[in-house]
Amino acid sequence: MKTMNKKIARSFDSWHFAMMNDDTRNKSLEYCFRTMSLADKTVLEIGTGAGLTAIQMAKAGARHIYTCEFNLQLFEVAKTVIAQSPYANKITIFDKHSSEIFLKEQPRFDVIFSETLDCRVIGEGFYTVANDIRRLANENTTIIPNKVQQFEYLVESKDLHQLNCCLSSSEPALEAINSFSTETYFPVRTRNFEILPLSDPVLIKEYCYLDDQPKKHVSQKVNSNRSSCCHGLISFFNAHFGRSIISNTSLSTAGHWHQAYHPLTTPRNLTVGESYQISINFNGKVEANNA
Ligand SMILES: C[S@@+](CC[C@H](N)C(=O)[O-])C[C@H]1O[C@@H](n2cnc3c(N)ncnc32)[C@H](O)[C@@H]1O
Repeated sequence: MKTMNKKIARSFDSWHFAMMNDDTRNKSLEYCFRTMSLADKTVLEIGTGAGLTAIQMAKAGARHIYTCEFNLQLFEVAKTVIAQSPYANKITIFDKHSSEIFLKEQPRFDVIFSETLDCRVIGEGFYTVANDIRRLANENTTIIPNKVQQFEYLVESKDLHQLNCCLSSSEPALEAINSFSTETYFPVRTRNFEILPLSDPVLIKEYCYLDDQPKKHVSQKVNSNRSSCCHGLISFFNAHFGRSIISNTSLSTAGHWHQAYHPLTTPRNLTVGESYQISINFNGKVEANNA
């Protein structure tokens, strides 16, 4: 049994603990680094966290890893963790945001790695990380993850609907609070709620850090397999880290990532066999219209 360290007021999210214990993720990343010939490569990592992945890359043989962490508490943790590892001389860590590093000169990076994905890909700063990767990569740089695929399916779920809007009939005026409902998405553990899928999952978007139009609005046709009321969509991702694919589907029960629920502005009735055009904008807001 591990003892608890003395407590300090924390300035980073509590999911960091769950992430450190997410063996599936951690082993998949380790496998990715081991199988991508890092030997003699100069690597840039965006987002050190507690230092785990920088150490994994050093272990996999990288010549040098430059890494950055803008949360100062995590920076201090990572500095200690790295200093106590056998790889301290191979890792340089900056207490900075990726937009503040290498503004004048930079090494030629063979690899740029970032695991800054939230349940719906973009929420941990995907677009700013993408800008910085485009600024710091050269024509031969390998970017990891190389692509992140996002899948969506339509759902009926009063449980999820009620997490985002007040349906009070006894005091109708309470519905005033609904002006503050989430419009984009929020994390849910789908296995904890009653959810009826109304379609198969469809691939709706592929994110790639080098994409020159990462914020492009996308849409996809989906067939409804039931006549029912659709409250929103659930999304999950398959992130391709070299040879490892890391996913946050509801089937990956051990993972620290939740799935993402995207409410429709207004629930709508779907007809079995009909096609609907699902569109998703850059911040995760979805719409479902007749195709
Ligand atoms: C999901 S954690 C992953 C940490 C570590 N790479 C790992 O996989 O274990 C991402 C970390 O990146 C940091 N971060 C996110 N965006 C960043 C940015 N643009 N520049 C520097 N740090 C960033 C966050 O504070 C967080 O600690």
